Amino acid sequence: MERKVLIIGASGQIGTELVLTLRKRIGSNNVVASDLKPLAKDSKLFNGPFEILDVLDKEVLLAIVKKHEINEVYLLAALLSATAEENPMFAWKLNMEGLFNVLNLAKDNFIKKIFWPSSIAVFGPSSPKNNTPQQTVMEPTTVYGISKLAGERWCEYYFNKYGVDVRSIRYPGLISFGSKPGGGTTDYAVDIFYKAKKGQKFDCFLNKDTALPMMYMEDAINATLDLMDAKSSSLSVRSSYNISALSFTPEQLFDNICHYFPKFEIEYNPDFRQTIANSWPASINDDVARNDWGWKSYFDLDKLCSVMIKNI
Ligand code: NAD
Ligand code: SER
Repeated sequence: MERKVLIIGASGQIGTELVLTLRKRIGSNNVVASDLKPLAKDSKLFNGPFEILDVLDKEVLLAIVKKHEINEVYLLAALLSATAEENPMFAWKLNMEGLFNVLNLAKDNFIKKIFWPSSIAVFGPSSPKNNTPQQTVMEPTTVYGISKLAGERWCEYYFNKYGVDVRSIRYPGLISFGSKPGGGTTDYAVDIFYKAKKGQKFDCFLNKDTALPMMYMEDAINATLDLMDAKSSSLSVRSSYNISALSFTPEQLFDNICHYFPKFEIEYNPDFRQTIANSWPASINDDVARNDWGWKSYFDLDKLCSVMIKNI
């Protein structure tokens, strides 16, 4: 069967890269990008089909699926951790109803396969802080984390009860230059590169010693596509997989960037996002993903800094 993919929330940080990579692999016309808002004039996504879609509008969603004969959906529309704290009720609505609208498309046999991202935010202060395992205590304290944990439980439920082939990854903080991040606690680790390049001082909203799990976007996209290509029988997790690449603190990132810009300056002014970061793991154990579908990361901190500085 020919793959016909719909990406929802395609203009965001992950969507932009995912659409471009998938279009290269399976052909531009087989990957329909969609987002709440029209494409920006300088968008890289004009190289294939695009639809305006609010994932909360299930009639329009179904019409687009039928129109393009979609059989695979990647659902990326969500409010991220920091934005969600500012509007908890809407974050819950978007993050949960959007997921149900897509899960129900598969349950009703309109589509065959779903990718839905979870996050390290599913863990909370009572989870082990270092090398956090796949299965452990999970008591998230952010609305974002609560919505992701609930989403994971529903994904597993739809797989067990209705046979829905839904696959998921708990992404760490993602670092990329293709599109700016959309309101997360890990956004500082992208913004810092723009300031360094402009020769401006960086005002960091996290303390210098706040270690968080992070990943370069190319690793995250490869993980996503590898998981979607994996044989169903090899997947032991139908909630969401831990994956890990590297962990660093703002100070370690700043020190590395200073190799390129020795006069770069930073000031630490933690805000409400510090409390969110404090509740998350510092590093993640991804043995299960490695064993089940061969997950492996390639970008360490040196490589990540070098590619970001070259391309920003
Ligand atoms: P983003 O904020 O950059 O992009 C989200 C996109 O969704 C935006 O283009 C936005 O316009 C669109 N959108 C918002 N509401 C919509 C709606 N109602 N209907 C359709 N589109 C809508 O987010 P991202 O960083 O690309 O994240 C994508 C997914 O990955 C989210 O579920 C997020 O929780 C998850 N995730 C991201 C990271 C990260 O570091 N970027 C880490 C962990 C998990
Ligand atoms: N990068 C994301 C955030 O900070 C993690 O899910 O919200």
